[in-house]
Amino acid sequence: MDRGTLERAAAAAGITAPVRWDDVTTSTNETAMRLASEGAPAWTLVAAGHQTRGRGRAGRTWTDRSGRALLLSVVLRPAFDPERLGLVSLAVGAAMADAVSRVAGLDARCKWPNDLLVDGAKIGGVLAESELDGPAVRHVVAGLGVNLEPPDDVAGAAGIGGVDEETLVTTFLRTLASLLEGGSHGILDAWRARADTLGRHVEATTVDGTVVLGVAADVDADGALLVDADGGRVRVAFGDVAHVAVDHR
Ligand code: BTN
Repeated sequence: MDRGTLERAAAAAGITAPVRWDDVTTSTNETAMRLASEGAPAWTLVAAGHQTRGRGRAGRTWTDRSGRALLLSVVLRPAFDPERLGLVSLAVGAAMADAVSRVAGLDARCKWPNDLLVDGAKIGGVLAESELDGPAVRHVVAGLGVNLEPPDDVAGAAGIGGVDEETLVTTFLRTLASLLEGGSHGILDAWRARADTLGRHVEATTVDGTVVLGVAADVDADGALLVDADGGRVRVAFGDVAHVAVDHR
């Protein structure tokens, strides 16, 4: 990716908001959150060739191979209530899984809540950060990292290889715009269609540390994962899941 590729992709997707490119930055999410607080309009794009302090979910870091990853943050101002913001992550994940599948010819899948997988290996992830104004959402920054080639030091990471990045980003932005305009049913259906988690045995750890074992049955209207556990259906609104192998002997 480079500045010209980003600008052409934004124009092809009909984006008229500002586009910001840095060869090297700390974190595109950090920059986008600052620009959004300063009033940057919805669909402002921030991308970079390399991040020195890339942010991952749950306080983790996100490492990239310099020049061989898509590192993109999008400023959004969705009309969602704060408790429904999980839908934004699902929309971003589904839009990119769809774009990777169409443009790179790979069967990209979504692992709840926001990992992108190809053949079970993580090729990317989504980090949505938000600023609230009382009960309303002031802005959301949807940050997306996709490896073309994985960094050396991240176990289990994979990449999508060489790809037409302009077409990939254009396709992603168009699909994301249409999902966000369409509302929650379309987002949930798009995510379900690309889900890797549904139907699998999972071990879900909620943010308060509770561990739930069961089968991932569905996502609800807010994007929370519904897990059928021994004691009944459990709703996991935030947290992580591990797909677990089950011995059927
Ligand atoms: C995760 O899987 O934990 C989410 C990773 C999100 C990484 C992207 S890269 C672009 C954007 N800027 C960041 O600092 N993080 C996100």
